[in-house]
Amino acid sequence: MFYFGVDYYPEHWPEERWPIDAKLMSEAGFNVVRLAEFAWSMMEPVKGSFTFDWLDRAISILQAYDIKVVLGTPTASPPPWLMGKSPDLFRVREDGMRVTYGNRREYCPNQPLYHEYTRRIVTKMAEHYADHPAVIGWQIDNEFGERCYCPVCAQKFQTWVRSRYEDLSELNQKWGTIFWSHVYNDWAEIPLPLTTGASPNPGLALDFYRFCSDSYVAYQQLQINILRAKCPGHFITHDLMGFGYDRLNYFDLARNLDLVALNSYPRNQWAMEECTSPSQLALSHATMRGLKRQNFWMMEQQAGPGGWEIISVTPRPGEMRLWAYQSIAHGADAIVFFRWRTARYGTEQYWHGLLDHDAHPGRRYEEIKRMGVEIKKVGGQIVGSQVKSPVAMVLSYDSRFAFQIQPNNPDFSYPDHFHQVYRSFYQQHISVDITAPNADLSAYKLVIAPALHLLTEAGAENLKRYVQAGGILVVTQRTGVKDETNAVVHQRLPGLLAEVCGVEVEEYDSLSSSMQNALEFVLPDFAGKASPSVGVLCDILKPTNATVVARYTREFYAGKPAITLNQYGEGQAVYIGAVGDGQLYDVLAGWLLERSGLQPVLAVPEGIEVTERWQGERRLLFVLNHMEQQQKIELDMSYTNLLDGKTLIGEVQIEPQGVLILTAT
Ligand code: GLA
Repeated sequence: MFYFGVDYYPEHWPEERWPIDAKLMSEAGFNVVRLAEFAWSMMEPVKGSFTFDWLDRAISILQAYDIKVVLGTPTASPPPWLMGKSPDLFRVREDGMRVTYGNRREYCPNQPLYHEYTRRIVTKMAEHYADHPAVIGWQIDNEFGERCYCPVCAQKFQTWVRSRYEDLSELNQKWGTIFWSHVYNDWAEIPLPLTTGASPNPGLALDFYRFCSDSYVAYQQLQINILRAKCPGHFITHDLMGFGYDRLNYFDLARNLDLVALNSYPRNQWAMEECTSPSQLALSHATMRGLKRQNFWMMEQQAGPGGWEIISVTPRPGEMRLWAYQSIAHGADAIVFFRWRTARYGTEQYWHGLLDHDAHPGRRYEEIKRMGVEIKKVGGQIVGSQVKSPVAMVLSYDSRFAFQIQPNNPDFSYPDHFHQVYRSFYQQHISVDITAPNADLSAYKLVIAPALHLLTEAGAENLKRYVQAGGILVVTQRTGVKDETNAVVHQRLPGLLAEVCGVEVEEYDSLSSSMQNALEFVLPDFAGKASPSVGVLCDILKPTNATVVARYTREFYAGKPAITLNQYGEGQAVYIGAVGDGQLYDVLAGWLLERSGLQPVLAVPEGIEVTERWQGERRLLFVLNHMEQQQKIELDMSYTNLLDGKTLIGEVQIEPQGVLILTAT
């Protein structure tokens, strides 16, 4: 079943309204709602007194329309009676300040008292709904994140490092605490990397970031254990924030979930000027799909202007439908819109739902209702079908954390660099999987590991094995600089990858924003290609075995290699030594695809996106027009558009924001 639905907060509205809501939902084609993830004070109004009758009534109204329910555990928004129990329950920020009550996510994920109350509410909910025929799954908490620097975390962190290092002398040696006399004689001396301590020891800071991520993973596990035991028939998920969120290791967070869910707001109050680009959205989809290498749910897809204090640009006609189909095209097996009706009060008064405050079913409702008709028709043919990608990109949360601690250059952003490279493949309609550094890469023709700054021995071995067996590996500047403990390696860079890349970094340069260099391609494959400009971080390369692909043309390293290609085992390794702009990666992506024998799924004009999903041997081709103008494409064979049943062949027009889902006729 393809689930199509909405996030619903019946507790915000009078009960008389609920049947009207359910009817309108059903008319929109909705067959699922997510409920209750912020309703702790409604389910446990005072300590130990649990009331689910209101929720039971809401669910049975929905059930009458055959609408299934995903329940949220309400731990993201604890009630005042609970947070009033102790100031220690509150998270402490990086600057040492405790957060205060009044928004949400105020809690420390390591607080035993918070765990105790979490266990109670989750157990009660799970027991109450285990056998409810309308309930199909659980969302744990809501958008985990934010590091806590409280004394409980400090103590837990000390225990955490203790389990990671054999003894203090190993820790002292690995963190290099001899520097500035930080040598610890007692585990209890190990501090937290608060901003008040200025720039911390990178080894300590990275371990703390890992610990914070592990803390949420453990807190989630506490809830998973209860739900699995009590509700074996239900799935368990958590709603994640896509590629952009950078405080948690999402691979770890996803590991014990049954499925990954994504929240997506392309137009929001923090980016009034522009809508999140289609390639950024696609990267988030690919990341969510990559976490468990399986399809994901869209748990919150924007359904109106987003905003807390201000109101964002409203989704243009056709945009919400296009966003939804884009996530389906990349592996979403369910679309749930956020939220049903815009709240009249609270911080999210202006975070609009499908209905405005007045509940009038307007333009946005009508658009999604039309989509509901389509989903009824095509959902069953799509659900469970697979995205098969010939290319993978390695996402390293360790490297990401390491760059948060030391960006290397003020203009360098690991996620932006990652996206920039991803975008070049996206534009050529090549599907890319996002994988962890230690994942099995054997299925991919091409693997790109952008700025894989921190490299473990196992990670390096994995990449080596991949190349040895015939794969094409691409790495970029500042790769292999750090070891597992965030110390700089003692080998020539790129450290553990020097041999496979057939290259050494002779010297590196970090450029100011007004400085630039440029490249000149020397391989004949690039004949006629313009010289791309580069900057930010430039590795000056010295091949030990590699062939030079491009050289620098400026500065004292003019003429020195910037990009190299090495034959290693049955495969090849490409080192891109400098940060470029889109033009550089476009040219390189074209070249790499040719070397890997990969071709775009379909040749289409700019602004059109094409992806495939496979239902066994049956190919579903998604064609999406991200432009505001009608566009013309040329089909390579005869297809049926599943959305309207029409046969299409040859030249075809796609409406602005139009979508085609094609199968061979
Ligand atoms: C997030 C949350 C939702 C809501 C929206 C809009 O994605 O999960 O509860 O707050 O943002 O702000």
